[in-house]
Amino acid sequence: MLKISAPGKCILLGEHAVVYGHPALAVSIDLRLQVTISKQKSNLKYHILDGKLMKPENNPHIFSAINDIWGSNSDMLNINISSEIPASSGLGSSAALSVAITTGLLTSKEEEISLEKISSIAHKLEADAQGGLASPMDTSTSTHGGCILLANEKLGKSWLYSRNFKNKSWEIHSFELHDNIKNVSLVIGHTGIQGSTSKIVRGVSDRLKSNPQLIEDINAIKALTKMGVDAVKKGDVDALGAIMNLNHTHLQNIGVSCNELDNLVGVARKSAIGAKLTGAGGGGCIIALSRNPTQTARDIELAGGRSYICKFGVEGVKIEDNY
Ligand code: PMV
Repeated sequence: MLKISAPGKCILLGEHAVVYGHPALAVSIDLRLQVTISKQKSNLKYHILDGKLMKPENNPHIFSAINDIWGSNSDMLNINISSEIPASSGLGSSAALSVAITTGLLTSKEEEISLEKISSIAHKLEADAQGGLASPMDTSTSTHGGCILLANEKLGKSWLYSRNFKNKSWEIHSFELHDNIKNVSLVIGHTGIQGSTSKIVRGVSDRLKSNPQLIEDINAIKALTKMGVDAVKKGDVDALGAIMNLNHTHLQNIGVSCNELDNLVGVARKSAIGAKLTGAGGGGCIIALSRNPTQTARDIELAGGRSYICKFGVEGVKIEDNY
């Protein structure tokens, strides 16, 4: 039996601007998804997922993974999934599944394995499941863990590799977080509202056409992300918090926040160093960088949000057991 775990992620800075070719910074979080895989001993002719017959329409990622990696004539598999990552909340739960299942199947097949290979296959699975569109942000953060910077140009020594996919290309960078940054907590506040990333991204594009001035906000997010990368590298927690606050204002200006997100950001800031929405917006989650995570989490809960106190920059995909 093989047990694999992979972490969720959140975007620290740069969402939406990344759609226009600018950098974005994401970190892994210590909410993990676990997959166990074993070969079936019975003569069943189908794969079993969580004790039931696996169906392609319900499990597109897993079916594509089995087709692409495992092949149709191999042994039937028994797969179980458990997850601490809330689904459809911008915290990378489907990417963690793609990464864990890819790692599990490659390992079971005794194929040569590298993090670049895992993240590339998992990215393709995500894109297939989302109708062809997915940036490598979530899958590379879940694979490598730590802190991932995605950009359309190589930005210094932290560059890992380029990813080319369907006429698009990205430069993927990875760096260790400074201890000062690791020593604060990230408190996630979930509004309980599920937003549609593609709808919100289209909304930004429409607003940019009708109000070209908004490009100033996209450019400001780009500049803030670059400053944020320096703050993360130097371990300047207070600068990072202030940059997050400013990033949120520009996300409000481009119309992707909502009352529930603004409310949670407001209450979190009473005890946090900085707070902003994370991911696409329109619902989903906020993140707050806090030295007093219990208080920040309590304030989020009192305001009607669900809170998660997280460590961030944690290890990426991991083989937990193989026997
Ligand atoms: O919904 P999430 O957390 O995966 O974030 C989407 C991030 C955007 O920048 C809004 C879209 C994108 O493709 O990068």
